[in-house]
Amino acid sequence: MESAVAGVVRSLGASLKNLGLYPATHPLVRTPVEKCHTELAPFFADRTELALTVSDGTLVLEGVPIFQLTSSLELFMARLGAIGLPAVIFEHGVSVEDIELFVRFLHETREQGLPIPEIKSRLARWGVTHIRVTATDEEESDDFTLAREIYGNALNLVVRALKDVRHGKIPDGVESDRVVREMSGMVSRNRDAMLALTLIKNFDEYTYNHSVNVSVLSLAMAETLGLSESERIGVGVAGLLHDVGKTQLALDLIRKPGTLTVDEFEEIKKHPEEGFAILGKMTCIQDSTRAVVREHHMRFDRTGYPRPDPEHRINSHSYVVAVADCYDALTTMRSYQKAQTPRQALEIMRKLAGKSLDPDLVELMERSLGVYPVGTMVRLNTMEVAVVTGTPDGGKGEPKVAILFDRSGNPLAAPQGVDLKEPDPSSGRPRRTIIGTVNPLMHPPVSISGVLQAISA
Ligand SMILES: [Fe+2]
Ligand SMILES: [Fe+2]
Repeated sequence: MESAVAGVVRSLGASLKNLGLYPATHPLVRTPVEKCHTELAPFFADRTELALTVSDGTLVLEGVPIFQLTSSLELFMARLGAIGLPAVIFEHGVSVEDIELFVRFLHETREQGLPIPEIKSRLARWGVTHIRVTATDEEESDDFTLAREIYGNALNLVVRALKDVRHGKIPDGVESDRVVREMSGMVSRNRDAMLALTLIKNFDEYTYNHSVNVSVLSLAMAETLGLSESERIGVGVAGLLHDVGKTQLALDLIRKPGTLTVDEFEEIKKHPEEGFAILGKMTCIQDSTRAVVREHHMRFDRTGYPRPDPEHRINSHSYVVAVADCYDALTTMRSYQKAQTPRQALEIMRKLAGKSLDPDLVELMERSLGVYPVGTMVRLNTMEVAVVTGTPDGGKGEPKVAILFDRSGNPLAAPQGVDLKEPDPSSGRPRRTIIGTVNPLMHPPVSISGVLQAISA
């Protein structure tokens, strides 16, 4: 095993080293790639993937450390380290072309310390299909701790800012800018960790968590849209402050359960204009951010409030915040509505597409959250119940899940992360598959902290 492992990595290193000296088509580049491909084949007789990691300065393939370092191996490790790749996974079905392109990616990428999602999207663009990169488990849980901290900072800021406004003080826009920058960085670094936190819904203090959630969801969409950094920050700040105008309404009106009277609804309708006025007094706020706050209820079909003049051009970013706002509101339990599951919310939003919501953005939201958004409860073919803890690597394939209930419905002592690609030894097919979603209300209640624990485990 050890020598077979060393052989695979040595071939990769040799090809990479020669690529620095010869053109990509040269036999000294091409032959080691073919050799590597041949040497990988026997490993896939009894497994579906092979993990190559760098741990404490040592290269480790499937748990076997490689101590005999040749110069080409050292170069290989140095490239992985420089680009910021802690783990590389070779999947069953990996082709010579995949390996060749991956080696070229290592050779040609000049940037250092790239975030994992960026590396993933670059490899996808290069056409590498059966080699994936991933953060090590340790780093993922660190990411989660960091994401929690960042979410907490944003929440504190919103609480402070909204209270300030209620007391007639104008908050400093520099602080909103700072927390949104932090959140934006975290969305790029580990979107799953940040999106998982939007599952936090606080029934009593709805507006605070809602504000942070809308900001995170808007940032995720802004990133998928490929907006520039300053545009992303602008959209994120708009998400964070979109309902700041509600501070000017009576508290019992905001908290009122049940349907509003016509007069009460007229009062609520003032909050976008109120918000626009407040942002006008804050420092460090982009004009477009202010416009988005004013326009977030205008609706895609222009039938919302404040009613736009016929010649008024609605900022496209207002539709982004509107979609995020709608999704977070639907997935939150309110005194007058039960919480929809993420999938139900997306279904409802599909019906609103082209009416109140921009159809392209509803589609984008669905794409960016995946078929099974983080937090969705699913039933497996084993009759176990699990929660989705992460989107699939590279955006396709199976999501990451953790089992919460065994086949008899008994809760596990701790959520158990399982790999949906793990094969059943007798049939070779995956041991566990998702057969459908589960209505969380039909199930023994799972606390949000239980779900978050599963996600961060
Ligand atoms: Fe609003
Ligand atoms: Fe809102």
